[in-house]
Amino acid sequence: MKIIAHRGYSAKYPENTLTAFRAAAKLPIYGVEFDVHLTKDHQVVVIHDESIDRTSNGIGFVKDMTLEELRRYDYGSWFSKEYTGEVIPTLSEVLAVFCHTNQRINIELKSDIFSYEGLEKLVLQEVESFGMMDQVIISSFNHEMVQRVAKLAPDVENAALFANVVLNLNEYQKIIPAKALHVSLPSAVRQPVQEAILKDSLVRVYTVNEIKYADVLLKIGVDAIFTDEPEMMMEYILNK
Ligand code: G3P
Ligand code: CA
Repeated sequence: MKIIAHRGYSAKYPENTLTAFRAAAKLPIYGVEFDVHLTKDHQVVVIHDESIDRTSNGIGFVKDMTLEELRRYDYGSWFSKEYTGEVIPTLSEVLAVFCHTNQRINIELKSDIFSYEGLEKLVLQEVESFGMMDQVIISSFNHEMVQRVAKLAPDVENAALFANVVLNLNEYQKIIPAKALHVSLPSAVRQPVQEAILKDSLVRVYTVNEIKYADVLLKIGVDAIFTDEPEMMMEYILNK
């Protein structure tokens, strides 16, 4: 079972910051996951929420601010004073951290509340400029975006994200050409996911921060887990 650092090494460092990504890049793990949104001036930035309220000392939606405006705020002190001065990273800055590693990079296209016109294309262009098309996995809860990624870049690995799974996933994959299924921890033990695993679908599970759940998923045979605690999970796998 592979390990993917969720939002960088986010248990130890402020999520989705360069510090969290540099820490994840040093670990011998399968990959890293992060979330992207689009600024008012069409820059792809790495942050989880639509707004900067929770993870910075500012307020407002990413879509309403330019990159220069977003850079005025601090994205580390909410986590700990020690990380004061972290800025919101651009996608390019994060790709630069990983382009000389052999880690897989899972870019989650966010569109839970707002839809960002052209986000798929911009992300693919930046990934290509770094020569990382084989290194990335592009996922989204918005399966129309997954479809557009599949159309724009058929060779890039894409994944459909699910918070709840209530349908036959193998049938669904005939409609949405997702190469992998990224499912929530509660969904992972449900029948549709079990059936998909038995039919060799690539299933990855988020967010797994407790050994007792990792243990269940290891037995089920999932491909990978997303975790905020990559070192703890590495140790668990090594001692297995
Ligand atoms: O990509 C897996 C996971 O990150 C999806 O949920 O809310 O943490 O982005 P969330
Ligand atoms: Ca995510």
